[in-house]
Amino acid sequence: MTWIHSASPLSKEKLPYADAMEYDYKLLYPRQVVLVTSQSGEKRSIIALAWHCPLSFKPPLIGIAVGKTRFSHYLITEGREFVLSIPTENMESKVMSVGSRSGKDVDKFSAFGLTPLKADVVKPPLIKECLINLECRVAAELDAGDHTLFVGEVVATHASATKDKLLFDMGGRNFFGIARE
Ligand SMILES: Cc1cc2nc3c(=O)[nH]c(=O)nc-3n(C[C@H](O)[C@H](O)[C@H](O)COP(=O)(O)O)c2cc1C
Repeated sequence: MTWIHSASPLSKEKLPYADAMEYDYKLLYPRQVVLVTSQSGEKRSIIALAWHCPLSFKPPLIGIAVGKTRFSHYLITEGREFVLSIPTENMESKVMSVGSRSGKDVDKFSAFGLTPLKADVVKPPLIKECLINLECRVAAELDAGDHTLFVGEVVATHASATKDKLLFDMGGRNFFGIARE
């Protein structure tokens, strides 16, 4: 194996620790982008997420890292449920819009042309345009610095058979698609 040393043009010694971490996090990309819906009462939102991870088959658990300042953080904390939805490559501009505006002041479904569908078990809606929708109940949460790691137990799944490409973030909000098997 050939080890390639980080090609950082910056000297980390000259960077504050947090900035150096942020720089190094780019090495953890590309990452698949997902959308997560949440709801509390009549309020709902959609957040774009690159920080998420499958955690367990039995029970089926998925982790999502949600920034504490996000409106979705408030909604998931209150509602204790979310839907993790897998967008396709051709949804790139919608995903960027969802990931750039807060749901505090806009209904992202109507603003960005996404269609809410009633979920089977949880209150937050599915997203019709997405390939896969996983209904989740919050099973645990971990205070993780400026984010919270919400662990969701998947309680219902909805999948489309189409073979559209999945959307990946290269790290600087530039995207590419990968075909799934
Ligand atoms: C590609 C992409 C990936 C993102 N990944 C995350 C993430 O993993 N965690 C997070 O808290 N925010 C992430 N964001 C930022 C949120 O999507 C963004 O702040 C959004 O506007 C929050 O909406 P809300 O305030 O309605 O919850 C990402 C944004 C984009 C565009």
